[in-house]
Amino acid sequence: MHPGLFVSFEGPEGAGKSTQLAQLAARLDTHGTPHRLTREPGGTPLGTRVREVLLDPTLTIDPLPEFLLYSASRAQLVANEIRPALNRGEVVVCDRYADSSLAYQGAGRGLPVNLLREITLAATDGLTPDLTVLLDLDPVLGLERAARRGQPDRLEQADLDFHRRVRTGFLHLAEQTPARFLVLDATRPADDLSDVIWQVVQARLP
Ligand code: TYD
Repeated sequence: MHPGLFVSFEGPEGAGKSTQLAQLAARLDTHGTPHRLTREPGGTPLGTRVREVLLDPTLTIDPLPEFLLYSASRAQLVANEIRPALNRGEVVVCDRYADSSLAYQGAGRGLPVNLLREITLAATDGLTPDLTVLLDLDPVLGLERAARRGQPDRLEQADLDFHRRVRTGFLHLAEQTPARFLVLDATRPADDLSDVIWQVVQARLP
């Protein structure tokens, strides 16, 4: 256990996570709550290098090495950034975490869930978010939104069926652990979403 609060944001492509992360960070600032915003893959010098590899649209990466690379970035981030901040009692807000591996590499790529869970347990030493905000969106809409941002990265290039399985995977995870998940319809106005997210986070602040 730790004295901080660990919040992750999850969802398919183009669900508006960045907007909501920025809004939450702004509210935490105003509230004067010590916090740290980070992301996966990335968040450390190693993670940033691994991220470049994972998102490179010119590379072909098989499902298992893909998962191991996400896990490598995660292990470094948890040990060097997330755990120390939580131990200091800070709020850590992470743009994607292990649920993304279960949804993308598990439901999406078809890797066995037991294997994913076992390696994730080793990579994170069992660190699970206290709250996970899932911004749920039809992947047709999400990919359209993402395409407006520019060239698709390696994951965005995957076909629509893959992205449908990812969405279903996230929703299954939320059904399995409803106490941890806040599931929100990402088509709602951004200000409404950030109000709800802030209410829920505020109620759980350390
Ligand atoms: P990013 O540009 O951060 O996408 P987004 O804005 O949608 O979060 O790229 C991260 C990509 O990596 C995204 O397509 C989801 C994918 N991903 C996985 O497949 N597995 C994982 O474990 C994580 C953390 C991300």
